[in-house]
Amino acid sequence: MDKLKIYGNADLFGSIDVPGAKNSALPVMVASLLSQEELILKNIPNLQDILSMKKLLESFGIKIREEKNIIALNAKQIINKTADYDLVRKMRASILVLGPLISRFKKIKISLPGGCAIGTRPIDIHLFGLEKLGVKFTFEKGYIYGQIKNNLVGSFIDLPFSSVGATENIMMAAVLSDGMTTINNAAKEPEITDLADCLNKMGAKIYNAGTNTIQIQGVKNLSRAEHTIINDRIVAGTFIIAAIMLNKDFLIKKINPKHLTNVIDVLVKMGANLEIGKDFIKVLKSDLINGIEIETKPYPGFPTDLQAQIMSLMTLANGNSKIKENIFENRFMHVPELNRLGAKIKVKNDEAFIQGNNTFKGAQVMASDLRASVSLVLAGLCAEGETIINRVYHLDRGYEKIEEILGKCGPKIVRLK
Ligand code: UD1
Repeated sequence: MDKLKIYGNADLFGSIDVPGAKNSALPVMVASLLSQEELILKNIPNLQDILSMKKLLESFGIKIREEKNIIALNAKQIINKTADYDLVRKMRASILVLGPLISRFKKIKISLPGGCAIGTRPIDIHLFGLEKLGVKFTFEKGYIYGQIKNNLVGSFIDLPFSSVGATENIMMAAVLSDGMTTINNAAKEPEITDLADCLNKMGAKIYNAGTNTIQIQGVKNLSRAEHTIINDRIVAGTFIIAAIMLNKDFLIKKINPKHLTNVIDVLVKMGANLEIGKDFIKVLKSDLINGIEIETKPYPGFPTDLQAQIMSLMTLANGNSKIKENIFENRFMHVPELNRLGAKIKVKNDEAFIQGNNTFKGAQVMASDLRASVSLVLAGLCAEGETIINRVYHLDRGYEKIEEILGKCGPKIVRLK
């Protein structure tokens, strides 16, 4: 299993281009299942999760052509409507195939998903929404069986929680249904809007994505389309936090700062010196970074996917900080590892208390999930001495060759096989 060796007291200079968003690319790739014609996607990031999704889609018979960051998916001939455990267990986003497959093929069997070990992550909201559209589910030996008689039928669906994945799954399923579907309390993340934009280019009729209430007017079929994936706000946020921690001037290019409004507010309140452009964010040196209290919330609130990274920053800040994690239970697995690196963080239920005015010292640590692992990279870059991060496959799921990309900007990170 690969490890990363990170040399502390790192330098950081120049700029970085933010890649396409993993959390947008995954559902948009799945959307190809709804169409008999080709879907061409640009700006696809080069990540382990994308490879897993390609394998899953190919297992259904989807033909994929690719060149650099462009992929063309063609679901004209589906040979298999079963998603096996081995393909699904690696990635929770596999559950997104549920709605599109049922909608197009009326009958499916898929394994219950895996993914990050952050909390129980049930799929009840996905099932609730799809049942409202007419699907009957049964469960046996770790598999979900879904079936509909004729076509899915539009419905009013009031989500008990604005789940990102459930909103995407239901939205995709409703595209080819009879009549109108309304999703109330829908998730508003930019990735939802990106998926809706792509589906609309394919011929869907989705209105008000990005708001609390999304309407989907069913259509008979979809056609060929091209779409460019938005850039990754979480990767951008991670690099912004890295530059603030190292207190270096650093330019983050190819990002829509509007997707990071809340994050920028929090960082500026802490004392960060940020210059915001139309499609870039420049981190400038700051005099003092202070502690703060934050809560993670669904978009446009502070993203849970940047919680671990800002916790690393809080350790170095002047004064204490507090984080309340509202989205996932058990998303503080990075805390013992950050503490091994010298942080002083205590967790009580869904709150973490971070003692500021601290420094990191290199040590051996273990990556436990995707975002947790990158918080350890950030800590390692600022640490005294060397840090070894074990189990970096978690990191590879969401960050493109971090040792090469950051390596071009000063930090020395070596992958050990
Ligand atoms: C997506 C993102 C993930 C991010 C998360 C929250 C992708 C591929 N992943 O995950 O990076 O951290 O949004 O912004 O886009 N829940 C239920 N029942 C359900 C569905 C969800 O109880 O049926 C709970 C989950 O356990 C979790 C919370 O709702 O506690 C949020 O989950 P959700 O918004 O669905 O996140 P994902 O789509 O899995």
